[in-house]
Amino acid sequence: MSSDLSSRIFSLADFDPAARELMPHAVYEYVASAAGDELTLRENEAAFDRIKIRPRVLRDVARPDASITLFGETLAHPILLAPIAYQRMFQPEGEIAASRGAGEAGAIFILSTAGTASVEECVAASAAPVWFLHYWQSDRGFNGDLVARVNASGAKALCVTVDTPVLGDRRRQFRAGFGIPEEMATPHLYDRNAGLREVASQQRAILTWPDVAWLRSLTTLPFVLKGILDPDDAARAIDVGADAIIVSNHGARNLDTLPASIEALPTIAERVGGRVPILIDGGLRRGTDVLKALALGATAVLIGRPYVYALAVGGAEGVVHCVNLLRQELERAMALTGRASIAEIDRTLIW
Ligand SMILES: Cc1cc2nc3c(=O)[nH]c(=O)nc-3n(C[C@H](O)[C@H](O)[C@H](O)COP(=O)(O)O)c2cc1C
Repeated sequence: MSSDLSSRIFSLADFDPAARELMPHAVYEYVASAAGDELTLRENEAAFDRIKIRPRVLRDVARPDASITLFGETLAHPILLAPIAYQRMFQPEGEIAASRGAGEAGAIFILSTAGTASVEECVAASAAPVWFLHYWQSDRGFNGDLVARVNASGAKALCVTVDTPVLGDRRRQFRAGFGIPEEMATPHLYDRNAGLREVASQQRAILTWPDVAWLRSLTTLPFVLKGILDPDDAARAIDVGADAIIVSNHGARNLDTLPASIEALPTIAERVGGRVPILIDGGLRRGTDVLKALALGATAVLIGRPYVYALAVGGAEGVVHCVNLLRQELERAMALTGRASIAEIDRTLIW
């Protein structure tokens, strides 16, 4: 850990202003912004702020253990890095640096189809598992080929984004004049030059339940659907063979006035009833946010923007510092609520 980072970045929130100083304005706006008037963006964090914690005292919490088991694998902590597109815009090594940092911090890295490094490169760079996030494309054969590539890559799970039939109204990023730089090659999307245009047009490819069932049939990897907010959709995801779901409003980037993802979690957890693990993302910035998500039914959490800012500020080391800070905050919050292990975190922790 560079002493430089640890002497000036004390919380995940500190990465944001530090990155803002370094990033081109339009690129910062691309990351920081969300859909519409950004009411959901604010809610993602504000909803965590409203939840209070009920601590228990006088228990042996000398060594809080934040480890979890996910798909048969033991992880040192429940923090994953969410799929974020085009990471070479934030740092020259992009996803390679992010996955290396994730590996050093024991965090699963989820690579986006619209990433600027290949899944094979990220698997090689990370000492921890890498998952691949599939963005459905209009060419069915292309989807099949991509899943076959992921199957052979050493990736440990296949995720599919299910919440983006069309792109959200990202007016703030357009106001800032944001455009994806021509030189951003995306190795999973056709050729270098066609690539960007393909992403723009192909995200309009409509994905439906039968397609998801078909994708499920193409892999024996754990299969994860990302972007669920409704208990009926959660139940249907399990019916089509999902091994986990990610409760998410896409970082508030799709439709404004959706609820905060933490608000959607309890009813989904109730419906899922422990049949599959539930992951959640959106607005998690503190160890206490992670604690609250776990208390309300999540098995693990994803962070998005904070690690992008960390990547911009400190490359792989920044990502390590980001995950370590959140993990340390979680472990401290566990000790201060009398929870020595993740298994002891349940609804009784909510005030
Ligand atoms: C710049 C940016 C790019 C993103 N790209 C993708 C993507 O390619 N695929 C996807 O499923 N989600 C994408 N997301 C959503 C994230 O995976 C995640 O759901 C969200 O960022 C979590 O919220 P948080 O940023 O508040 O932690 C992106 C988010 C951001 C900020």
